[in-house]
Amino acid sequence: MITIDRVTRTFDGAVRALDDVSIHVRRGEVFGVVGQSGAGKSTLLRTVNALERPDSGTVTVDGVEVTALQGRRLLEARHRIGMVFQHFNLVSNRTAVENIEFALEAVGRPRSAKRDEALEMLDLVGLAHRADAYPGELSGGQRQRVGIARALASKPDVLLSDEATSALDPDTTRQILALIRRLSRDLGLTVLLITHEMDVVKQVCDSAALLEQGRVVEQGPLLDLVRTKGSRLAHDLFPLGEAPELPGYGVLDLTFAGGEAERPTIAMLARDLGIDVSILGATIETIAGEQAGRTRLAIPGEPGVVERAARFLGEQGVGVEVVSRP
Ligand SMILES: Nc1ncnc2c1ncn2[C@@H]1O[C@H](COP(=O)(O)OP(=O)(O)O)[C@@H](O)[C@H]1O
Ligand SMILES: [Mg+2]
Repeated sequence: MITIDRVTRTFDGAVRALDDVSIHVRRGEVFGVVGQSGAGKSTLLRTVNALERPDSGTVTVDGVEVTALQGRRLLEARHRIGMVFQHFNLVSNRTAVENIEFALEAVGRPRSAKRDEALEMLDLVGLAHRADAYPGELSGGQRQRVGIARALASKPDVLLSDEATSALDPDTTRQILALIRRLSRDLGLTVLLITHEMDVVKQVCDSAALLEQGRVVEQGPLLDLVRTKGSRLAHDLFPLGEAPELPGYGVLDLTFAGGEAERPTIAMLARDLGIDVSILGATIETIAGEQAGRTRLAIPGEPGVVERAARFLGEQGVGVEVVSRP
C-alpha cells in the first residue's frame, strides 16, 4: 500500500535525515517506525504525503507515485492520506464538530452535508457527546480523538501518525492505540505511525522498522522479527536485561511466537534430555494478535550440555541464543 523506495533527504547539504530508506507497508496493516529523536522519523512521514520532497527515491501510495505529483493531483492524493499529530493541532476557537467541518470543507464537501458528516466522524471516535466543546474544554485523549476524526474526514485509505500518543498518559495512550487498531480493522485503513516508544509498537503494530541516523536497521512483521536471531527490535520489545554471571551454568535466551508459545518446550527439554533447567526470566505479551515472548534459561553442566539443549530447542522451532557457556 505504501512503498518507500530508496529515499534520501539531506538538509542544508549536511544532515542526512534519510539515507537510502526503503520501507514497504502492506494494505490494512499498522506499521510502526521506531527510532530516537533525530533519527529521521518525522521527515520520513512527511515524505509520504509529500510535505517533504526527497533528494532521490520515490514514494508510492496505493499505486500512485506521490513524489511525482504537483498541484491539484497532489492535493487529491493528500486527501487519501490523513494525518494526526502529537500536539493535536486543533483550531482552538472552533468546537470539536467545527474542527471537523473545517476539514470537510477543505475536501469540498457541500455545506448541507457537513454537520451530519462531522457528527458521524465524532461518533466513530466515541466523542459525539462532546461535539460542541472547545479544544480547551477537552482532555488530551479527547482532543486526540477529535484529531483522529478530523484526519478521517476525507475518508482516507492511509493514516499517518506522528507521535500521536507522546503527549498522553499511559492509560489514555492505551485507549487511543486501541481506537487506531479498531479503525484500521473496521475501515481497512493502512496506518503508518512513528514513535520513540517500544510500548506503542507492542500495543498496536503488526510490523515495524527501526530507524537510526536516517537508515533502516531492520524491518518486518513483528512475529517474524521475534523469530529473527539477533533482532534488535525483538530485544527491545522483550527486554530481559543483562545476563547474570553464573559459574557452572550456561545461559540461553529463547524467543518464541505464535503456536510455539503454547507448546511445553521447556518441560520437554527437562524431560527428554534430563536437564535441570532453571528459568531466570520471562516476558510474554500479545503482539500482532499472537502470543510472543522471550525466556532466559540457566542450564547446568558441561558446555556440551548447553549445545545439546540449544540444538533441541532450535529443532522445536524456538529462536535460541547462547548468551554464555559454563
Ligand atoms: N527542515 C529542516 N531543516 C534542517 N534540518 C532538519 C529539518 N527537518 C529535520 N531536520 C534534521 O533532520 C534530522 C531528522 O529529523 P526528524 O525527521 O525530525 O527526526 P525525528 O522525527 O526522528 O526526531 C535531524 O537531524 C533534524 O535536525
Ligand atoms: Mg519527529
